[in-house]
Amino acid sequence: NVEPEPRSLSLGGHVGFDGLPDQLVSKSVTQGFSFNILCVGETGIGKSTLMNTLFNTTFETEEASHHEDCVRLRPQTYDLQESNVHLKLTIVDAVGFGDQINKDDSYRPIVDYIDAQFENYLQEELKIRRSLFDYHDTRIHVCLYFISPTGHSLKSLDLVTMKKLDSKVNIIPIIAKADTISKSELHKFKIKIMGELVSNGVQIYQFPTDDEAVAEINAVMNAHLPFAVVGSTEEVKVGNKLVRARQYPWGVVQVENENHCDFVKLREMLIRVNMEDLREQTHSRHYELYRRCKLEEMGFQDSDGDSQPFSLQETYEAKRKEFLSELQRKEEEMRQMFVNKVKETELELKEKERELHEKFEHLKRIHQEEKRRVEEKRRELEEETNAFNCRKAAMEALQSQALHATSQQPLRKDKDKKKS
Ligand code: GTP
Ligand code: MG
Repeated sequence: NVEPEPRSLSLGGHVGFDGLPDQLVSKSVTQGFSFNILCVGETGIGKSTLMNTLFNTTFETEEASHHEDCVRLRPQTYDLQESNVHLKLTIVDAVGFGDQINKDDSYRPIVDYIDAQFENYLQEELKIRRSLFDYHDTRIHVCLYFISPTGHSLKSLDLVTMKKLDSKVNIIPIIAKADTISKSELHKFKIKIMGELVSNGVQIYQFPTDDEAVAEINAVMNAHLPFAVVGSTEEVKVGNKLVRARQYPWGVVQVENENHCDFVKLREMLIRVNMEDLREQTHSRHYELYRRCKLEEMGFQDSDGDSQPFSLQETYEAKRKEFLSELQRKEEEMRQMFVNKVKETELELKEKERELHEKFEHLKRIHQEEKRRVEEKRRELEEETNAFNCRKAAMEALQSQALHATSQQPLRKDKDKKKS
C-alpha cells in the first residue's frame, strides 16, 4: 500500500506561509538557547584562558591542583546575552585529567558524565508529564580536546580517551598553546595527529558540507583540523590598535591573526557557523544512539516489517508478565528452600535426640551395673562383719572362760603349800 505522491499546485496569490521560518526564529529567540562545552585536557594546558578568549569575557574558574586522585567533572553555567539572543552556556571542565600515575580509567568519569546527561534527558522524555520545552538540556554538544604542543605525536591517553568518547560526543581536537611550536613543526604535527586519529579509528566531528550556504567554508576548515590555537586575555598595542595577544621579548603573537594561529577559525566554526549543527548532531546522532541502546536494553523493539507493529503497551505487558512469572518462580524457589531447610533441621534434631537417648540408656546401664557391684560388695562386707562378730563373740566367751579358770588357781596353790 504505497501512498500516492501528493500533487503539486500553484497558488493564485500571496497566502502567507512563507513567513513560517520567521515564526520559528522568533519562537527560538524567545525561548533562548543552551550550549554545553566539555573541555578535556591536561591541567594548565590553557582551557580556561581559551574559553575566556572565545567568549570575550572572564568566567570565574579556579585553577586545578596537580594532586587530584581521580578525574572530576566540574560544570558551570552562565547566562550570556548578545543583542536579543540569550545563551545558557555550560562549560564542563575535566579537572585533574592526566595527573594520575595510573591513567587507565581517566576516561571513565567523562563517559559517565556524558551518559548521565543523556539519561536525564531520556528520563524527562519518558515522564508522563514532560516539560521538554523549558527543560535545561545539559547534554554535551561539543568536546574540545586539548592536545599538548609537543610537536611529536599523540599520547596514548589522548587516543584512548578520544576513542571512548567519539560515539558519545562531537569531538573537536585542538592543539593548545600553539605559540610554543614553530610553523614548520606545526604543519608536520597536524598531519601526524590526523594520521594517528585515522589509523586508530577515532571519529572526530566533521563540519557539515551538505548545506550549500556553508559547504565551502566547512570543507576548507575540515582540512585545517586540528586547529592550533593561542589563548590570551591580555591586550597589547599593535600599530594603533589594542588587540588580544601574547607578548614575548622577540615579538607579539596575536590571537586573532590568522597568520599566527587558528583561533579565528575555531571561533568561526564553533560559534558562528556550526553551533546549531553541533546541537543537532548531539540530539540526532549521539543521543539517539544512547536512547536506542537503553530502550533495547529495557526490552523494547521496533517491528521487523511483517510482524506486529511496535506497541509500547504490548511490550510493557510482556515485560510485566515476564517479571511477574520470574517473581513467582523466585518465590516458589524460596518457599521450597525453606521447607527443605525445615525438614533438614527436623531430621538433624531427631538424630540428636536419638543419640542423646542412646547415651542416656548407656549411662543407665553403667549405673545399674555399678549399683549391682556396690550392692554385692555391701553384702560381702556384711557377711564378713557377721562372721567377724561371731568370731569376736566366740573369742570373748573363750576369754571369759579362761579368766574364770585363772581366778580359781591361786587358791589351789595355797592349799598345796599348806600341805607341804
Ligand atoms: P586548569 O584549569 O588549572 O587545569 O588549567 P587550564 O587548562 O584552565 O589553564 P589556564 O587557562 O589556567 O592556563 C594555564 C597557564 O597557561 C596560564 O599561565 C596561561 O597564561 C597559560 N596559557 C594559556 N593559554 C596559552 C597559550 O595559548 N599559549 C601560552 N604560551 N600560554 C598559555
Ligand atoms: Mg582552568
